[in-house]
Amino acid sequence: MRYRPERPIQSEEITPREIFLNRRQFIRATAAAGIAATTGACTPARAGGEPLAAQRNARYSVREGPSNKRLATSYNNFYEFGADKRSPAFRARGLKTRPWQIEISGAVEAPQTLEIDEILKRYPLEERVYRLRCVEAWSMVVPWIGFPLASLLQDMGPTSEARYVEFTTLLDPEQMPRQKGESAIEWPYVEALRLDEALHPLTMLVVGYYGQALENQSGAPIRLIVPWKYGFKSIKSIVKIRVTPKLPRTSWNDAAPHEYGFYANVNPEVDHPRWSQATERRLGKAGRIPTLPFNGYADDVAALYDGMNLKQLY
Ligand code: MTE
Repeated sequence: MRYRPERPIQSEEITPREIFLNRRQFIRATAAAGIAATTGACTPARAGGEPLAAQRNARYSVREGPSNKRLATSYNNFYEFGADKRSPAFRARGLKTRPWQIEISGAVEAPQTLEIDEILKRYPLEERVYRLRCVEAWSMVVPWIGFPLASLLQDMGPTSEARYVEFTTLLDPEQMPRQKGESAIEWPYVEALRLDEALHPLTMLVVGYYGQALENQSGAPIRLIVPWKYGFKSIKSIVKIRVTPKLPRTSWNDAAPHEYGFYANVNPEVDHPRWSQATERRLGKAGRIPTLPFNGYADDVAALYDGMNLKQLY
């Protein structure tokens, strides 16, 4: 795979200028005052399952009803807690999500280690109803609560060297039992995006869903959601974000390179070597529905891949 260099993306292209400037003013104001503001941007710490309110962003929400909450929160892929769908919901219960730090490093002007509660104070939360399509051909519709990853990356100031963004899940075999044994995955779980994918307004850092803080099995306290890519790109329980000049290795691509590509854009025309990707099973619904190119987000994201052969981009 070759990276096609693109012109640097201006922050105004990612976030509308007024919002970008307002956020910076907000950060400066709260920092100067040295106090926690009382607006919605200053969300107090929430343990998994506790109420967490955010306004819905209609521009970025699909017009489909969300999947049943109980189904979406009890049918999970979180290999650190079990290779089946049911184990994570009870085996992840003991995961300690406070204190929790995220280290942001690499090709950025301002590397930082941020407490999760500091992140919650800094970035205004919004709700977005997105489809999530797993590479295993099941899908769900979830009202996520979070903020654009671009907001955090822009604050760190990617340098001219920046090309990719790598994400790492917690490594703690005492808390994550499957990190102790044999696994196809070399722990910790790592994922990555091209910088322009990471800066795309659809790409979110998520801290809640269904009007509450994320439960542990869903990637508490903070995870990535990239709705046009197969679910394995949406890494859970993130502790590191590193901006890099070179293509980072990623867990599933390492484990089975012929089955899981770096791009992993949802594509009904490119089958997994062991099953078709043309249709999917929506959690809680009978039968199968057609899978949409880029999971239905083609109008927003297809231009990111102009000139690239989508059939080879698995
Ligand atoms: N992140 C980590 N750290 N470990 C995982 O096993 N599974 C991925 C992704 N993020 C996974 C992960 C896969 S394969 C999918 S489909 C989604 O999480 C599932 O998210 P959900 O359990 O909230 O549905």
